[in-house]
Amino acid sequence: MGKIIAVAQQKGGAGKTMIAAQFGVALAEASKVALLDIDPQASLTAWGRLRASAPKAAPGVEVFTISGWRLANELEKLKHSYDYVLVDTPPVIDSDARRAIRGADLVLIPLNPAPPDLWAAEGTLKLASEERRPVALLFNRAPAASRLRKRLEAEIIARRLNLLPVALANRAGYANAFADGLGVTEAGPATQAAEELRAAVRSLLALLGGVEAR
Ligand SMILES: Nc1ncnc2c1ncn2[C@@H]1O[C@H](COP(=O)(O)OP(=O)(O)O)[C@@H](O)[C@H]1O
Ligand SMILES: [Mg+2]
Repeated sequence: MGKIIAVAQQKGGAGKTMIAAQFGVALAEASKVALLDIDPQASLTAWGRLRASAPKAAPGVEVFTISGWRLANELEKLKHSYDYVLVDTPPVIDSDARRAIRGADLVLIPLNPAPPDLWAAEGTLKLASEERRPVALLFNRAPAASRLRKRLEAEIIARRLNLLPVALANRAGYANAFADGLGVTEAGPATQAAEELRAAVRSLLALLGGVEAR
């Protein structure tokens, strides 16, 4: 049975869509992956359309666009056919976001390592806690070291929240690959971005391995 990962964070621009696409492509190197776009802005769907005619796009990733009352059913169906289902959610806490979180094995919350992004994540953290779903925070566009990052790390640890040990830096490679309908592991398999992303995916899988099967 596949695992469902909901990428959620109320803050727009935190990297939800980019991370769903990048993680999906990297996971597809060894697995079958479904990407589910439930955001009305449909950026992941647009990426999927570009991908359909991108020569470097590897097979193994399929993009679906679904929302509303069918969502819970579709999630159940997809996890029978795919190893991983990543759900890209809208930047609001609405009934769809709740359905996605309710159905998820893990809620992945991207955030810039600065306090306002953690404040913006409180709604998602509360929802995950209400639905008793495990969460993993992921620093995105993170400087290698900064006072704010250290401060936020300490706060996250003090609250006993999971933080992926690998952060994603701010790299043009991510945005460029996305703009071509690709992941960095396809656009530049030997780049620092690709290495960083694969390490982040491994850390996510290690965490998922520790999450109880549903
Ligand atoms: N690590 C990163 N490095 C460079 N650009 C990034 C990174 N993460 C996200 N971006 C860019 O930031 C913008 C917002 O990301 P996006 O995934 O659309 O956020 P969200 O879905 O949370 O609103 C996009 O243009 C995306 O390409
Ligand atoms: Mg988005």
